[in-house]
Amino acid sequence: MNLKATKKWWKEAVIYQIYPRSFMDNNGDGIGDLKGIIEKLDYIKYLGVDAIWLSPIYKSPNYDNGYDISDYRDIMDDFGTIRDFDNLLDEVHKRGLKLLMDLVVNHTSSEHKWFEEARKSKNSPYRDYYFFREGKGALKPPNNWKSWFGGSAWEYDNLTEEYYLHLYHKHQPDLNWDNKKVRREIYDIMKFWLDKGVDGFRIDIVNYISKVKGLPNSKNIYDEHAGKEFYLNGPNVHKYLKEMRKEVLSRYHDIVAVGEVECVNPNEARKYVDYDRNELDMLLSWEHMYVDYGKNGTWDIKNWSLADLKEVLKEWQIGLSKKGWNTQYLSSHDQPRQVSRFANDERYRVESAKMLATMIHTLKGTPFVYQGEEIGMTNVVFNKIDECNDILSVSMYNKKIRKRKNKSYLMEMINYRGRDNARTPMQWNNNKNAGFTEGTPWLKINQNYKFINVEESIKNKDSIFHYYKNLIELRRENNIFIYGNYEVVLKDDEYIYSYLRNLDNEKLLVILNFSGSKRFFKLPDDIKFEYKELLISNYDVIDSEVNAVLLKPYEVRVYKLKLNK
Ligand code: GLC
Ligand code: CA
Repeated sequence: MNLKATKKWWKEAVIYQIYPRSFMDNNGDGIGDLKGIIEKLDYIKYLGVDAIWLSPIYKSPNYDNGYDISDYRDIMDDFGTIRDFDNLLDEVHKRGLKLLMDLVVNHTSSEHKWFEEARKSKNSPYRDYYFFREGKGALKPPNNWKSWFGGSAWEYDNLTEEYYLHLYHKHQPDLNWDNKKVRREIYDIMKFWLDKGVDGFRIDIVNYISKVKGLPNSKNIYDEHAGKEFYLNGPNVHKYLKEMRKEVLSRYHDIVAVGEVECVNPNEARKYVDYDRNELDMLLSWEHMYVDYGKNGTWDIKNWSLADLKEVLKEWQIGLSKKGWNTQYLSSHDQPRQVSRFANDERYRVESAKMLATMIHTLKGTPFVYQGEEIGMTNVVFNKIDECNDILSVSMYNKKIRKRKNKSYLMEMINYRGRDNARTPMQWNNNKNAGFTEGTPWLKINQNYKFINVEESIKNKDSIFHYYKNLIELRRENNIFIYGNYEVVLKDDEYIYSYLRNLDNEKLLVILNFSGSKRFFKLPDDIKFEYKELLISNYDVIDSEVNAVLLKPYEVRVYKLKLNK
């Protein structure tokens, strides 16, 4: 393989996601901020990652914590000023790190000036920036689409007696990308940040931006997301992304564009990221996150199986192997904590967190690490809804409680699935408020900060943190982690996930025991090698065998194999 032709910094990078509200509070108001991030850049550098993705920091009324933007060119007061941002970018670059901004342009905030103007009159020049439509008779919205945060996707606006479309919350009206002026505005915003020197974007929910003309009624009335068939990978999405590449992305040197997508299979994905499509570079897909979703969607929680997880991951590994590029993640600000969800956050927290980390760093694709993951932060227990902040959980709760659903059952679902699990403040040390703030934290702190925190993790050489550091270093030093081809080993094993990465005459053999019991691993006879070296593992390995191994609970081993010495 000609590596030179396909080499890119963002393929070799590990990207660290910061949720600014919960990362570090510098001024004691209980809310994380940009100065707080600057304080902690040395920590991020020490971990060894290459780039930072910042969840939104723009002006926002915070109905969805920044994913509802009211001014794309300014910073949220809670977080600081544009000068703080310039400093941050400077400090990031000084350390040889890169910075990706979150670009949320499927919708704006209802407090954005375009929307405020658009609302005023049917003749407003901004009216067509959004989707305003007449209702279908008294109190009937224009169609039956549902919002991702529950209820109808339409909100009635008294002022002009029309409805507007919001695929998320009513404070997040959808932008009309078919309007050329809207696209111009978005490209200008992107240029504004790129001219400042940012290194790329993570583009929020990019596969919703194009809606089918006429916004037809959905026949899937029982679907939690009725109507999605009319905007998922909509008719013009690829045309617009090609335009974005041509007008903006291609004019800047070596930047990266990562799109968030929902309900996209690898075949669809290739249309976004195959390099000869000239659209995006990578996708943050939700496919593997659905393994514990029942058929009724978000709040229908089902036991996940390793077989299902392996199947989705394989499809993506193979689907994007020729011209595309994958991302790898199990955590984000939208997901519960990975060690609680996919492993064991009690007895085997340390071992199993290392096991999951190994998977993310050894599958082919760019690893995304979400703040706190590197110290094995866990889900938290919210006792009552007042302790929660997330609009998704709170809307669901309010709706169901009206239908007289049992409170403790609802809290149980929120504690499992809720996005606030990932948003509790970062645990820096075992001082008051985990060292996150001198004030009152905006969201409750997980009480396990007394033993799960950064300071402790740095001191302890066997910690999850040091394991991440090692993995990141190994990946940096061994091209095979990055460019080697994926080949599954024990396809049907229910408990063990094992695969090879092949590059030239080397192989990486990854063995992951996903269960809390001992499991027997047998290497298939057709995998031949003369030389082997154990690169990393989460237990002390004393046996020298690799052909047959009795794996301990959540044990992982990564070997380098060579055909000849
Ligand atoms: C994306 C974001 C999520 C947000 C939603 C609406 O899925 O990751 O946090 O609520 O889009 O912007
Ligand atoms: Ca603050």
